[in-house]
Amino acid sequence: MTENPQRSPLAANPYLPEIGTIVETIQETHNIKTFRVVLGSEERMQDFHYEPGQVGQLSVFGIGEATFVINSPPTRKEYLQFSVMRAGEVTTKLHGLSKGDRVGVRAPLGNHFPYESMKGKDIVFIGGGIGMAPLRTLLLFMLDNRADYGKIRVLYGARSPQDMAFSYELPEWLERKDMETVLTIDREAEGWEHRVGLIPNVLLEMAPKPRKAVAVTCGPPIMIKFTLQALKKLGFKDNQIVTTLEKRMKCGVGICGRCNIGTKYVCVDGPVFTNEQLLELPNEL
Ligand SMILES: Cc1cc2nc3c(=O)[nH]c(=O)nc-3n(C[C@H](O)[C@H](O)[C@H](O)COP(=O)(O)OP(=O)(O)OC[C@H]3O[C@@H](n4cnc5c(N)ncnc54)[C@H](O)[C@@H]3O)c2cc1C
Ligand code: FES
Repeated sequence: MTENPQRSPLAANPYLPEIGTIVETIQETHNIKTFRVVLGSEERMQDFHYEPGQVGQLSVFGIGEATFVINSPPTRKEYLQFSVMRAGEVTTKLHGLSKGDRVGVRAPLGNHFPYESMKGKDIVFIGGGIGMAPLRTLLLFMLDNRADYGKIRVLYGARSPQDMAFSYELPEWLERKDMETVLTIDREAEGWEHRVGLIPNVLLEMAPKPRKAVAVTCGPPIMIKFTLQALKKLGFKDNQIVTTLEKRMKCGVGICGRCNIGTKYVCVDGPVFTNEQLLELPNEL
């Protein structure tokens, strides 16, 4: 078991959630809802330390808990943002909650994006659907520390315009001169003024240069499979590709063994891995 020194000092019992209050919700798409959550007090929020890419377990009392990335960066700590795609029991109950409701929060859990070793490099973000959530954390963190990074390019794809989360901040991303944003959808749609095409194909057209670059990608498994092939074609090496795994978690602290792949536990050794690290794991994904 790996110790996680960043666990809340309140959580001597790692299973004990803190109480969070939902201060705002955003209906992102028909099946994704965002929750902005604050912990106990303003002081507690300031004391709460986490890194981009870390996750939390959100619980609905009497129902259960599920894992979500904290998709607001630690440079913006008025609240913790979680975007939840409806999948089953816990996520459906979460979707029923609104401003003022309470949730249990066990966070921060897991490792984080290696943003220190990315300094000075060009960064290519490639996100599909809800997979944009973890990328958003790192992207906003890098924009808040803009001078530390080279060129920033974002490729974000969804099935249709209606499936695109974070639509309220996309105009700003598109307008910013210090980053390039490309949006794509799978099929033509009325009024859509951006790209049409599958993410790996659009990526090949964008043709980011691998020299001094890191690609960070997250999305559905089929997208990841073809995106990795496209990145390889463009010359990216396995240690230049970073992704996050969504293997089911339970305890979140390396105790129950639910999330293991070979000798690694996704909850403490992940969820962030380079492709080089993933290739060393047994093929159990
Ligand atoms: C590290 C990590 C980060 C995550 N971040 C996010 C996030 O930011 N936003 C988000 O919406 N989701 C995220 N997830 C996935 C989320 O945890 C699951 O969708 C959630 O646990 C489903 O809970 P449920 O009780 O509603 O569904 P369940 O009733 O448990 O499952 C409903 C259906 O979905 C399938 N399913 C559930 N979870 C997964 C999964 N992880 N992978 C594949 N199939 C699954 C089940 O097999 C079942 O068919 C993350 C998962 C992990 C491990
Ligand atoms: S979720 Fe229990 S060991 Fe990882």
